[in-house]
Amino acid sequence: MRYLEVQSDIERVLFDGAAIHKRLDEMAAKITADYSDRELVVIAILTGTLMFMSDLLRRIPLPLKLICLSVASYHGKTQTSGEVSFKELSVLDVAGQDLLILDDILDTGHTLEAVRKKLETSRPRSIRACVLLSKRKQRARNVDVDYIGFEVDDEFVVGYGLDFMERYRNLPYIGVLKKELLEQPNQ
Ligand code: IMP
Ligand code: MG
Repeated sequence: MRYLEVQSDIERVLFDGAAIHKRLDEMAAKITADYSDRELVVIAILTGTLMFMSDLLRRIPLPLKLICLSVASYHGKTQTSGEVSFKELSVLDVAGQDLLILDDILDTGHTLEAVRKKLETSRPRSIRACVLLSKRKQRARNVDVDYIGFEVDDEFVVGYGLDFMERYRNLPYIGVLKKELLEQPNQ
């Protein structure tokens, strides 16, 4: 079966579906309490945040707005280029609003910093950030993150929305990709 072939590319599972959902319950409860008196505007960075966004937001029983952004910094490789390009952000009107940026994983910090800077130019009332995963590493950028799902070692992880070359997003768990697959030339 092809699905099992994909699973054999995973070195080890870090968080299974049950662990992810348990942590999302806690994160959603915290966010719900923090935003109970104001309208939340969620800015979700696609595509890696897709599963996280849909599972987290369904646990937040507050009125909220959702804006999805496509941002690219990787260009298909595992190293960030450091340049973050936006497709829709120029048309956002978020002045005076309370923004919560959602991203799948905090790695170098380039993406979150670039998104935050861009959003600041629209003069929102507040900006916070929420990531499912944060890599334990020295960052190129000093970024503030208000909600973190799990800390992970500095390894390449996939699944539950996270990809390598657009693959593995549909795995229901988060796992470490086998190192030899990262070293292969673009395919
Ligand atoms: P940053 O700009 O270096 O913080 O990178 C953030 C983006 O890089 C994330 O939103 C992911 O799309 C991608 N990324 C970084 N590390 C990983 C990983 O281990 N697996 C999959 N994607 C990753
Ligand atoms: Mg990605």
